[in-house]
Amino acid sequence: MMKPHKILWLGCCLAVAGCGGDKSSARNYDKEIDQLMDRMTLAEKIGQMNQVSGKSNPTGVLKQYSSIEGRVREGKIGTVLNVTGAATTRELQRIAVEETRLGIPLIFALDVIHGYKTISPVPLAESCSWDMETIEASARMAAVEASAAGLQWTFAPMVDIARDPRWGRVMEGAGEDPYLGSHIARARVRGFQGDDLSAPNTILACAKHFAGYGASEGGRDYNTVDISDQRLRELYLPPFKAAADAGAATFMNSFNELSGVPATGNRFLVKQILRNEWGWDGVIVSDWGSVAEMIPHGIAEDKKQAALLAVKNECDIDMEGNCYPSSLEELVKEGKVSEKEIDRSVRRILRLKYELGLFDDPYRYCDEQREKEVTLSAAHREAARDMARKSIVLLENRKSVLPLGKPRSIAVVGPLADSPVDMLGEWRAKGDPKEVVTILRGIEKTAGAGTRVTHAKGCDVTGSDRSGFAEAVRAARSADVVIACLGESADMSGEGYCRSELGLPGVQQELLKELKKTGKPIVLLLSNGRPLTLAWEKENIETIVETWFLGTEAGNAVADVLFGKYNPSGKLVMSFPYNVGQIPVYYNHKHTGRPFEPNQRYVMHYIDAPVDALYPFGYGLSYTRFEYGEPTLSSDRMAAGDTITATVKVTNAGDYDGEEVVQLYIRDLKAQITRPVKELKGFRKIFLKKGESADVTFDITRAELEYVLADGSVVSDPGEFELFIGGSSAGLQPVRFSAL
Ligand code: GLC
Repeated sequence: MMKPHKILWLGCCLAVAGCGGDKSSARNYDKEIDQLMDRMTLAEKIGQMNQVSGKSNPTGVLKQYSSIEGRVREGKIGTVLNVTGAATTRELQRIAVEETRLGIPLIFALDVIHGYKTISPVPLAESCSWDMETIEASARMAAVEASAAGLQWTFAPMVDIARDPRWGRVMEGAGEDPYLGSHIARARVRGFQGDDLSAPNTILACAKHFAGYGASEGGRDYNTVDISDQRLRELYLPPFKAAADAGAATFMNSFNELSGVPATGNRFLVKQILRNEWGWDGVIVSDWGSVAEMIPHGIAEDKKQAALLAVKNECDIDMEGNCYPSSLEELVKEGKVSEKEIDRSVRRILRLKYELGLFDDPYRYCDEQREKEVTLSAAHREAARDMARKSIVLLENRKSVLPLGKPRSIAVVGPLADSPVDMLGEWRAKGDPKEVVTILRGIEKTAGAGTRVTHAKGCDVTGSDRSGFAEAVRAARSADVVIACLGESADMSGEGYCRSELGLPGVQQELLKELKKTGKPIVLLLSNGRPLTLAWEKENIETIVETWFLGTEAGNAVADVLFGKYNPSGKLVMSFPYNVGQIPVYYNHKHTGRPFEPNQRYVMHYIDAPVDALYPFGYGLSYTRFEYGEPTLSSDRMAAGDTITATVKVTNAGDYDGEEVVQLYIRDLKAQITRPVKELKGFRKIFLKKGESADVTFDITRAELEYVLADGSVVSDPGEFELFIGGSSAGLQPVRFSAL
């Protein structure tokens, strides 16, 4: 059984990160910026606040048709997205530096969400590893490849907390919990930015989408968000604050309105919270066209008013909205916007360019030799495989069909068995399907010569064509074990890809039922970008593995787990509902005045479905069995300033070495406002050989008992608390303590 070898990987990658210049992010460039701005015209300043997209892979509706080169030459563009490659970016950079009046370099950006060319698992999958070092290393790898391709800025991490799996963008995030989401946000920012932005292999991070986007009503993208200030602060803001504290250089505002005001123009969100309360002074870029979208939102009459609202709200860059280029100069001349307000944004943008070292050497990121060396390197493929293994969640293994021994024959069936592009998931940047190891290929390579591996697609992901069923059933009948590769296609999650039903699409469940009739052991391998409704599958299929979309090395990682080279350790970061009617269902819910009790009518419940999730937050099995003792406390009373240490004995009581995520939850039984029935307040990923035990400890201070009120004040109360420790958020017994 493979023991995680994270240190080796992290070491070799971070060594590369240290090859940059001085610690430029610590330096102050005020003098240089002042001198440059004194020479800039108002039009040139406004040009810096304009971002346009290349035509290669637009991620929104392209509205500005005239050529980028021309507008760069005229000093009308400050940053560019969706233009990549050392050679291509070098040429556009050359125009900016050598053919404009002041030679101000461009910043090149792309959505490097989970890898640039070597694609890692989608972020929702990576998050299930609960492994911050590996998640950071994954982002580091992405930065090394992206920066070698002429890029200095990624629009990641997406840190939107989400409780609604109908929303397609849950695949980009870290699930439903703000504590875990905050840790993951920090890891990703550190991975992208390293400790020196002027190093040629680090890139700017961008915390997005600020804020509340994951609360879009009905799980419909771009839809209305109306939540209390307290919920905004307690649930949606913490990962953004973590990203800001980790030094995220940029933020992106979100498309949604927040309680009546679109985020792009929402002064409470941006001016009060981000700029004033948090004191964050980085660059805010609008989302694609979100400045102009304040017109259809109905709070701006035209692009001019939209530009006014956005710039007054310190949105520094207008991405593909064409509001700043078309209106800002006029607004300044009319005195509605001061040049001082323009200067504030331009200073922020120029500071980034200095910190990136672009004024020292505007071509340091356009190194075709380095691009060839690092892209899709063996080390990066190994890193992607390691990240992918750790992202897999074992949901069922009731008859221990897994790990596979040496079956004589394996039938690999289903539409996701041999589908390279789907393994890459959405937001796959420059991921190349030709470089993907599919699930079928991974099984064929690992099974070895003594095992016959057959393949039958059986059906498509969607549609009602059942003509392939017979071939798949025949393959199943002639095999010792069936691997059913079912799920969603990559373009069923991600931006603009929301679903109102969350079962296996098309006729896939029918195919599964036909396979079950063969009586053969079935391993259901799920490839999907969101929690699905799997009540029938859970009831009828003994072995279920959640593999998400695992990226370039998907097949090798799946095979490592199926054949026991790696013992799965993933834990869900988002609850799986029984059915869509349950949504939203999440672990950290409130107790209510009439909490659920079985066989009672006047309690919180459905008459036709359970109230709990099918698979809860924090859940994930292993090939081995981890046993938990009862948590013990160093004291059951916490006086002011005290620390209580909680200790739990964890034993690997099974037959395999393995990793376990030990989770700590706390409940405040009485407070000034209602509190969740439990909240994640700590976790440890440990490795135990079979038979080994370990005492896992957590220090609890007042900080772990605090919560935030609607006005932003952070409080804690004396009183009774419950503490839970286990390998899931469900099924835990509490121990009590008092805070005095
Ligand atoms: C998209 C997305 C955002 C992305 C941007 C640039 O509409 O909402 O996440 O970074 O446009 O591609």
